[in-house]
Amino acid sequence: DASDIEKGTYPHYMLKEIDEQPIVLRKIIQEYQGEKGGFAIDASIRKAMKNADRIYIVAAGTSFHAGLAGKVLLEKLANIPVEVHVASEFSYNMPLLSEKPLFIFISQSGETADSRAVLVKVKELGYPALTITNVPGSTLSREADYTLHLHAGPEIAVASTKAYTAQIAVLAILAADTANEKGRKLPFDIMQELAIAANAMDVLTDHKEEMEKLAKNYLHSARNAFFIGRGSDYYVSLEGALKLKEISYIQAEGFAGGELKHGTIALIEKGTPVIALVTQEHVNYSIRSNVQEVVARGANAMVISMKGLEQTADSFVIPKVQQLLTPLISVIPLQLLAYYAALYRGNDVDKPRNLAKSVTVE
Ligand code: G6P
Repeated sequence: DASDIEKGTYPHYMLKEIDEQPIVLRKIIQEYQGEKGGFAIDASIRKAMKNADRIYIVAAGTSFHAGLAGKVLLEKLANIPVEVHVASEFSYNMPLLSEKPLFIFISQSGETADSRAVLVKVKELGYPALTITNVPGSTLSREADYTLHLHAGPEIAVASTKAYTAQIAVLAILAADTANEKGRKLPFDIMQELAIAANAMDVLTDHKEEMEKLAKNYLHSARNAFFIGRGSDYYVSLEGALKLKEISYIQAEGFAGGELKHGTIALIEKGTPVIALVTQEHVNYSIRSNVQEVVARGANAMVISMKGLEQTADSFVIPKVQQLLTPLISVIPLQLLAYYAALYRGNDVDKPRNLAKSVTVE
């Protein structure tokens, strides 16, 4: 339906797509809800997941970052080792593979040439492949053995937002389904936790003014910016930095909290923005000390913490969700930061320079 992709009252597709994230998440819950507490996932996919001794996730850009967040879910819930690879590297420098690999291609468009090049090789080698995509009829979907649909609706803005959270949600459900199949009891109900995350998303998209203010104060005239986090927060930091680069053109990097001091801290000067994510209880203390390290060198630190781990000086507190699902919501303030930074700098938010929504050349 063409009216689905109208901007309506929104000034930009990106803002509309950020706002659609709770709706998409609820749609995914509904689409993947199976009978008797199970999941609506094809038995053939379930079997392929159970048979695999290792999963290789292959993707590019934001989808690669969703794969990193998904790795944590698959390893923790389904107990399968997971490697996540940049597609353009994997096709020319293939790592040693396990005996029974399963390939998962993550691609919003399903048309990314770098990912397709890997899929062609994987099929030649005779290994099974699953594509997770927003476009079920796409090339990657047709050429893989199995497909899982993101149900995110058309994503128009070049900077991907709702596809990222949809990818993580589908990977979470796939991980829980595999755990079921393997007879692993999970300490929580994934669909219930995803529903809680959807409500948290509502809270975040309803409070945009705060991120707008932070973007204005921290990023309006910034030359560079650093995003730090540990564990899943590190992976979300990579995505936050990519979003900011893509549309604001501010040079930005995401770092593992403990790694910044091994070199890059040389770049911290008075007023350098450092955005820290604090959603992981077991590394709360260590990421806080990384924040201290940069503050001591003059950085303008913006701490985004999760309820329960917050301190009074933090810039923004996000609602509490299940610890393995925090990427679904911690990314939203970062998407908004990028959006408002680009807006303040007068950039074309939906069509950033030099970028294409879908890159069909290798
Ligand atoms: C392009 C887009 C990115 C996207 C990447 C992967 O570079 O500009 O936003 O993340 O392709 O796209 P895919 O459709 O495979 O997820």
